[in-house]
Amino acid sequence: MPIMEPYRIKVVEPIPITTREHRERALAAAGYNPFNLAATDVTIDLLSDSGTGALSAEQQSAGLRGDETYAGARSYYRFRDVVEGLTGYPHLWPVHQGRAAERILFTALLKPGQVCVGNTHFDTTRANIEILGGQAVDLPCQAAKDLDSDAPFKGDIDLDALEAVLSGPQDVALVLMTITNNGGGGQPVSMGNLKAAAAIARRHGVPFFLDAARFAENAWLVTQREPGYTDRTPREVAEEAFRISDGCVASLKKDAIVHIGGLLAVKDPELAQKCELLLIATEGFRTYGGLAGRDLEMLAQGLLEVTEPSYLRARAEATAYVADLAAAGGVDSVRPTGVHAVYLNAGRLLPHLPPARFPGFALATELYLAGGIRCAELGSLYLGELDDGGNLLKAAPYELVRLAIPRRVYTQSHLEYVGEVLAGIAQDPERVPGYRLTHAPPLLRHFNCRLEPV
Ligand code: F0G
Repeated sequence: MPIMEPYRIKVVEPIPITTREHRERALAAAGYNPFNLAATDVTIDLLSDSGTGALSAEQQSAGLRGDETYAGARSYYRFRDVVEGLTGYPHLWPVHQGRAAERILFTALLKPGQVCVGNTHFDTTRANIEILGGQAVDLPCQAAKDLDSDAPFKGDIDLDALEAVLSGPQDVALVLMTITNNGGGGQPVSMGNLKAAAAIARRHGVPFFLDAARFAENAWLVTQREPGYTDRTPREVAEEAFRISDGCVASLKKDAIVHIGGLLAVKDPELAQKCELLLIATEGFRTYGGLAGRDLEMLAQGLLEVTEPSYLRARAEATAYVADLAAAGGVDSVRPTGVHAVYLNAGRLLPHLPPARFPGFALATELYLAGGIRCAELGSLYLGELDDGGNLLKAAPYELVRLAIPRRVYTQSHLEYVGEVLAGIAQDPERVPGYRLTHAPPLLRHFNCRLEPV
């Protein structure tokens, strides 16, 4: 069955078609770091699903209706009404993107020395906690360790471990559940796990928050995989997830299908006061939070569109199609396939490369050289421990490559092209060279490092 996208294309943008020689020059000039490439050198960009989606005609027209009044703009009230309807949270603010919400919430809630416990923190989330002198503790469930199993909810938190941490000596400021679990292979969190974790947090008097960047995709997978939820709509599941939590931070660049925007929302009025002060001091007035009126309009519209079952089904099918093409070509990926990305198992494809030669990075680089496809490594380059000279001290648990699929952007032919390029690489994997670091900054290494093939 072909993927039946429930939309057609009205506006198109050319994509660069380049030669291998061009790509070799471009990548060498970029120090072999895909983050240093210009978009004009990239044919299919699977680096991120964040802010890279295509707007609908309704979003664009909503944007034209944007009210750019400084305070109390009409567009703010539309945004507020839509978010309130979806989440039920009484105190909510727009922010410029997810990490702004994280910074404000953690500044208001977390004291130095305190801990934030979650299923798996996203990297900016962890950074915001650590900058404030806190500690981010990941407690992924046991099933997450097996990349090949088809366990349906590998994004769950380990409930026994959560209970143990909350009963232990550490001072826990909050529990934060990331739905879906981006750091953990884009795997969903079940409603059963979410409710149980919320109950444990509540029993210990600890606030329970969501990182809801991909709330609709998590809800879709719940309707597909969780007994008791198969006759619910994604919207109903999402509403329930928000209501059992004390608030959320969210990058709306994902599941509001916009280019910029985020959300901070809380139930507690005292916490709300603290957050609002920080928001006004650093993001913008409470009715725009660093965004334009047109952004608020497009966000509100996107939040209504994203829970449409036909859209979510087509998106999930497209991602599964990429994983199937990869498997048919001989490349395994983290099972079961989620919605926003396919996580390729580069370590298994390139056994001739030890972690110190960065097999995930090598596969990502090869995808660019062979086909102009840009994607991100999630392996020892990003997550391993290195010494000052850039030598690997401790490898990451897995060597993965994330193919993040932008929303409503690429057609089935584009995805087939990705599958073909991958299969071509898999025909002769030993030809793929390893890499070594020539420049490794101590902070935010993967964004700024430079490498060379060896
Ligand atoms: N939380 C999660 C789960 C995310 O995936 C991201 C961003 C953020 C928070 C931060 O949001 O970018 O709006 O400030 N993820 C992007 C990605 C960058 O490619 O996965 P932001």
